[in-house]
Amino acid sequence: MVDLSNFLRGGAAAKPDSALPRHVAIVMDGNGRWAKKRFMPRIFGHKFGMEALVRVIDDCHRRGIQYLTVYAFSSENWKRPDEEVSGLMNLVLVGVSKYLARLADKGVRIHVAGDRSKVSERVCQAWHHAETTTAGNTGLELTVAFNYGGRWDIVQACKRAIADGLAPEALSEEALSKYMALGYAPDPDLFIRTGGEVRISNFLLWQLAYAELHFTDCLWPDFDEAELDKAIAVFASRDRRFGGVKPSPSTQEASA
Ligand code: FPP
Repeated sequence: MVDLSNFLRGGAAAKPDSALPRHVAIVMDGNGRWAKKRFMPRIFGHKFGMEALVRVIDDCHRRGIQYLTVYAFSSENWKRPDEEVSGLMNLVLVGVSKYLARLADKGVRIHVAGDRSKVSERVCQAWHHAETTTAGNTGLELTVAFNYGGRWDIVQACKRAIADGLAPEALSEEALSKYMALGYAPDPDLFIRTGGEVRISNFLLWQLAYAELHFTDCLWPDFDEAELDKAIAVFASRDRRFGGVKPSPSTQEASA
């Protein structure tokens, strides 16, 4: 059994490398139910969801996690009531003006992944501002998936590869990966979904091929450091074989 107590408290120097995910991807679900339990409108839950996100960015950063990708608005979320959609768009503007300086000071680099063609000019400008302000940072790489869908991502990658003149014989998994929206990041090691649903919901379909999946009933605004530690401990206990087999102790001794 790996002793995780030190690095879970933030003692990154002592962490066993394979026990800490390099890239964590999160579906932040349950904001609406969290608000409903408090007899408040759904956007109230999203506002507290934003606070939870800022806390989790800090927690990941302190643990030495290098990449964090969060699903903030899916290509399907346009089907929500107009009031909720405009509330979420407004939350981008509020979030960037309230938290960007703090995140930038910590060295966080922000990327936004998704189809910007349907997103308003004001929201695009806010994301562009967040990306350019943090472009030189070398700390945690935060990707906000916004108007993002996994199928959209695969199609846009194919389109860009074709437009680049990539010949069919040059097309490979590695080549296409570079055209995916997260072409700059390794695939997620750990996928977390809060809110009790057990599905991927068109998030990072290509990139999650070998991620360890962790589902929790915790509603996103309640997600805290203890929940993150639980997810990391579950990850550390998994036996990742990537389709291979675990070498038996005698094989390991012989090759040592
Ligand atoms: C899903 O919960 C959550 C979303 C669609 C939005 C997630 C947004 C945030 C956490 C705030 C941060 C936002 C930005 C723009 C960076 P749900 O509403 O489906 O919850 P429910 O299943 O309880 O209804």
